[in-house]
Amino acid sequence: MLLENKVVLIHGGGGSIGAAAARVFAREGARLFLAGRSLPRLEAAASAARAEGGDVSVAVVDAMDQVAADRHAGDVVAEAGRIDVALNAVGFDHVQGLSIGDTSLDDYLHPVVGYLQTNFVTAKAVSRHMIAQHSGVILTISTPGARLTGRGLIGNAAQSAGLEGFSRALAGELGPDGVRVVCVRPHAISDALETSYTREMFGRIAAAGDVPMDEWVGGLAGTTLLGRLPVLDEVAEYLAFAASERAASMTGVIANLSAGALVD
Ligand SMILES: NC(=O)c1ccc[n+]([C@@H]2O[C@H](COP(=O)([O-])OP(=O)(O)OC[C@H]3O[C@@H](n4cnc5c(N)ncnc54)[C@H](OP(=O)(O)O)[C@@H]3O)[C@@H](O)[C@H]2O)c1
Repeated sequence: MLLENKVVLIHGGGGSIGAAAARVFAREGARLFLAGRSLPRLEAAASAARAEGGDVSVAVVDAMDQVAADRHAGDVVAEAGRIDVALNAVGFDHVQGLSIGDTSLDDYLHPVVGYLQTNFVTAKAVSRHMIAQHSGVILTISTPGARLTGRGLIGNAAQSAGLEGFSRALAGELGPDGVRVVCVRPHAISDALETSYTREMFGRIAAAGDVPMDEWVGGLAGTTLLGRLPVLDEVAEYLAFAASERAASMTGVIANLSAGALVD
C-alpha cells in the first residue's frame, strides 16, 4: 500500500476533493485525521473512508484560524505521534465570470485572501512538527486560473498564481528539513459538481450567459486535449502518489491535472 501507517491530516476533509482523497488514502493504509467546518460532511467522509478500511478521526477546525489549526495539529501529534502528510482541500464559493468593472474590490480579494490565508495557516500548523521529525509532505490545490487568461478570471487567477508561488517558496524553505511540498492543479472536476461550491459558482456563470449548466460544462470540457474534465478519483489517486515514498524526489512541483487544458 502507498501510505501504510502514514498519519494524514486533511483540512476541508468533508469536501469533494477532501473526501475523495480520504477514501483513496484510507485504501492505501493511512491513519486519517479529517478537519473541517461542518460535522455532518466530515462524518460522511469519515464513514466512506472507514469502509475502505481506514482508521479515521474527525474534528471541527476553522482552517482560517491559526490558533485553532495549531492546537489541532498538536492534538494529532499527541494522539498519533507525527504528521506525515497534510492536505489543504478547503474550498469556498467566490466571484468568477465578471469583468473588472463589475467586480468589487472585496469580491476580488475574497478568494485571494481566503485561499492564501488558509494554506498559510494549515502549512504553518504542521510545518513545525514536520521540521522536528525531519520528514513530511504538504499538499496544496491550485486551479488552471494560475496560467489561463480571459475575462472573468482576475480573482481566481491571482489566488491560484499566488498559491502556486507560495507552494514553490514553501518547498524551498522546508526542503532542507526533509519536507516536500506538492501543489496539484486540476481543471474543473466534473463529478465534484454534485457536492462542491463550484456548482453554485459555475451555475451563476452559465446563467449569466443564458446557457444550461450541462452545456457550459461541456464547453469547458471541449477546451481540453482529452475532450473531458478530470474526475475526483483521478485527482485523489494522484494526491496519494504524490504523498507517498514513490514520489520521494518530487518537491516544488505544480502538477498539471488539467486534462490538457494547459500544456507545459
Ligand atoms: N472542484 C473543482 O472542480 C476544483 C478544481 C480545481 C481546484 N479545486 C480546488 O480544490 C479545493 C477544494 O475544492 P472542492 O471542490 O473539494 O470544494 P468543496 O467540495 O466545496 O469542499 C470544500 C470544503 O472546505 C471546507 N471549508 C470551507 N471553509 C472552511 C474553513 N474556514 N475551515 C475549514 N473548512 C472549510 C468546506 O466546509 P463545509 O462542508 O462546512 O462547507 C468543505 O467541506 C479548493 O481549493 C479549490 O480551489 C477544485
